[in-house]
Amino acid sequence: MVAPRIDRETTNEIVRQFGSKPEMLVQILQAIVMRSGWVSEETIRQLADELNLSRADVFGVVTYYHDFRREPPGEHIVKICQAEACQAMGGRELTDHARRSLGAGLHETKDDVTLEPVYCLGNCACAPAVMIDGKTHGRVTQLRFDELVGAIKERR
Ligand code: FES
Repeated sequence: MVAPRIDRETTNEIVRQFGSKPEMLVQILQAIVMRSGWVSEETIRQLADELNLSRADVFGVVTYYHDFRREPPGEHIVKICQAEACQAMGGRELTDHARRSLGAGLHETKDDVTLEPVYCLGNCACAPAVMIDGKTHGRVTQLRFDELVGAIKERR
């Protein structure tokens, strides 16, 4: 399932909610990504027009923050914690395993599953932590990771 492209009217509505202020660009982009999951080239151009910014200004902010995806995410989002407590408990090895297992690098999508880094899921006591489709899992081994990902694939 491809995330919906946000329409011009909705984008305009969000811009107005933030007072059409260029200094609110990050918050506007967050609202757009909350709604549709990504920021299209068309949306970048519209934001530039409506906020009286250059396309390069908007593009620069979108590319600076990894959370502002420029392509639709997969149906399933797998986030792996990269912060200190998880790194100390094998998070790096788990991330390498996830890359191999999913066939996708960080910020990439394969077979409708998007792999993303995250910096602390508030589950440090149960490191390494992973979030799959909004649900947090702790003490995730490589075997457990494959089971969790296998379960989302089975639900399709
Ligand atoms: S450091 Fe990974 S959940 Fe906090």
